[in-house]
Amino acid sequence: MTGAYAVFMAELPEPSGLPGKPTTASRTTLSHIMTQNEVNLLGTVHGGVIMKLVDDAAGAVAGRHSEGPAVTASMDEMVFLEPVNVGDLVHVHAQVNWTGRTSMEIGVKVLAERWNESTPATRVATAYLVFAAVDENGKPRRVPPVVPGNDRDRRRFQEAQIRRTHRLARRREITESRQRPL
Ligand SMILES: CC(C)(COP(=O)(O)OP(=O)(O)OC[C@H]1O[C@@H](n2cnc3c(N)ncnc32)[C@H](O)[C@@H]1OP(=O)(O)O)[C@@H](O)C(=O)NCCC(=O)NCCS
Repeated sequence: MTGAYAVFMAELPEPSGLPGKPTTASRTTLSHIMTQNEVNLLGTVHGGVIMKLVDDAAGAVAGRHSEGPAVTASMDEMVFLEPVNVGDLVHVHAQVNWTGRTSMEIGVKVLAERWNESTPATRVATAYLVFAAVDENGKPRRVPPVVPGNDRDRRRFQEAQIRRTHRLARRREITESRQRPL
């Protein structure tokens, strides 16, 4: 293994020791037609409805990959690119981008198309979530390392590792800043 991917692999957290699982084993799509029940005061679909679908799809992926219960630890970089309308058929595509010892980053892409037209779907939102696999006592448990199957998944893995590094650095920096007088 050579190049930037090899460098990132060398910087990974302590491995879980479990056998690896391919990205494709848990990749999932959740589809839903938006109705009047889901609109906000502006008449478009409420962002919270999309966030719930994102969390649901990501949770299914995390549970499938880790073969047991998994809880949302954080949700970051939820980006809304286009409004979603009543009558849109929304597809929420989710996959494991990265795994640590007990946590997983799930990448989610949301596409929308008119339910009764064969026009191309539009990308309306993206998100990255971290799930922790937990045991029956709610304590973190080890997850199988994800094995990216192609260059696109390897790139997602690398980028997730960058986000992980930044999340940890930000948390550490904020914790340290709270210990200093204002
Ligand atoms: C998520 C949770 C299990 C973490 O427990 P903890 O005792 O802090 O355990 P750890 O510090 O060992 O963290 C476990 C893993 O989660 C990761 N993690 C914890 N908090 C995180 C956060 N805010 N952002 C990103 N990753 C986080 C850790 O880096 C670690 O990953 P690793 O083992 O791959 O390195 C715990 O905080 C929890 O139960 N939270 C509530 C979850 C919940 O109810 N979600 C909503 C409903 S599903």
